[in-house]
Amino acid sequence: MKMTKKVLSILLAVLLFAACIPFAAAAENDPFRISCVVNGNTETQRGLTWFTNVDCATVVSYTDGVNEYTAEGTSSAWEGNFVHKVLLKNLTPGTTYTYKVGNGTVWSEEGTFTTDNGDDKAEFVVFADIQASNLENFEKGANVVNTALEMYPDADFVANLGDFTDDSTNEEWDFYDEAMGKINRNVTLAPVAGNHDGLGVWDWFETMFNLDTSDSVQNLNGVNYSFDYGNIHFAVLNTNDLLSISTAQLSWLKNDMNSTACDWKVVLMHKSPYSLGKDAKWPDALYLKSALGPILDECNVDLVLSGHDHQYLRTKPLTNDELDEDGTVFVLAGTAGAKRYEIREFLVDNFMPLDYIEACVVQKDGYGNYFNGTDFNSVDEANIGGVFNHISVDGGNLTLNSYVVSDATNEVKCIDTMTLTKEQGLNVPTYDGNNSTPDYIYGMGIGVSFASLALYTLTEWIVIFIKMLPELLISYIKTGTF
Ligand SMILES: [Fe+2]
Repeated sequence: MKMTKKVLSILLAVLLFAACIPFAAAAENDPFRISCVVNGNTETQRGLTWFTNVDCATVVSYTDGVNEYTAEGTSSAWEGNFVHKVLLKNLTPGTTYTYKVGNGTVWSEEGTFTTDNGDDKAEFVVFADIQASNLENFEKGANVVNTALEMYPDADFVANLGDFTDDSTNEEWDFYDEAMGKINRNVTLAPVAGNHDGLGVWDWFETMFNLDTSDSVQNLNGVNYSFDYGNIHFAVLNTNDLLSISTAQLSWLKNDMNSTACDWKVVLMHKSPYSLGKDAKWPDALYLKSALGPILDECNVDLVLSGHDHQYLRTKPLTNDELDEDGTVFVLAGTAGAKRYEIREFLVDNFMPLDYIEACVVQKDGYGNYFNGTDFNSVDEANIGGVFNHISVDGGNLTLNSYVVSDATNEVKCIDTMTLTKEQGLNVPTYDGNNSTPDYIYGMGIGVSFASLALYTLTEWIVIFIKMLPELLISYIKTGTF
């Protein structure tokens, strides 16, 4: 009897263990952190990435609703997990695909993306700086992005202007995934590297997203790349490149912008040359203004979208830091996150002439959250919330609308509108060479890049900084922050 009981116990234990195996295996192979990003030709290609706890096969199953396809890719170890990458090629333009990723047996939930149809229309959602470190704040950011996508369900893609997380740890990327996983599976993303997206471990950003990095000047702490959508050419900069931008990346930008036949030219980057936020006073952000100015002018760039300083600001058109109605508009996109910056008034007329500002909204109570042209302390409670932007291009018209999603009520309020117009068909490409940057060219340029930044800092920046130092100190005494 005793023996029978023992045998039954062992049998029961074995059965329980066997029953658990499929669940354990499924959990270990379950894909997470799935993203679908622009990669090369947006009419025919997408770059997919996901992670698993254990190494396994890398398979995508996808369908256009008529035919079913599979594609395989590669996996590699990354920070305690395994990262899987697949480049989907030969897609049909203007087609919605449904896909799932996995090892061929265990699959993710389904996601979707739609390829560019090749006409001259495009629309996209832009947000920046969620930069959260806990699930609650990631969910607040996700609410802003979800609100944007509910308002604009036909957006072709979403641009995240960087600082996805605060410290770029496994835990934070998991919170990001938990809050934004459904969004990420169902949009095409154009990610921009922020300074928080590789802290400590330099190639987090390149690992997280399957981008076309063939033209990147270097792949540490961010990448630069470009793509077309509709009649817009986008150059995505990595402003973590030697404190902000190297001579090699400036050269890449010039060649890249000169090689497109698109009528509209847009730069996406993280750090902002024009801002009234706390980071606007440092040489890295301000160097961008002098370094990019001549290239944006020569290449007729229409719009620069950036983040980093967590407030909203739009300039009038500028050429080489001078007002010019044919110049480039700079938009600091506001933050979709919960960390928000007040205005530093001492920057006005030192680094940021007042009459350059077309619109400025601070999303934070207390210091003044609305600039009405004269008064920085005019408070508007409705501006306290997360910001997103929507941009649409239809032929010769580009329209920007920017919105705050109220923290208190979730109501959406338009805070800025802009329309640019241009005659189409005037842009002629002038560069058709190889725009890749060999490592030795980048290496040789490091000295020149640091010298350029140092020269700017020690001649132009330091003079202005010393001039505004008394105002900066008074501001610090009053508010307790720089
Ligand atoms: Fe930043």
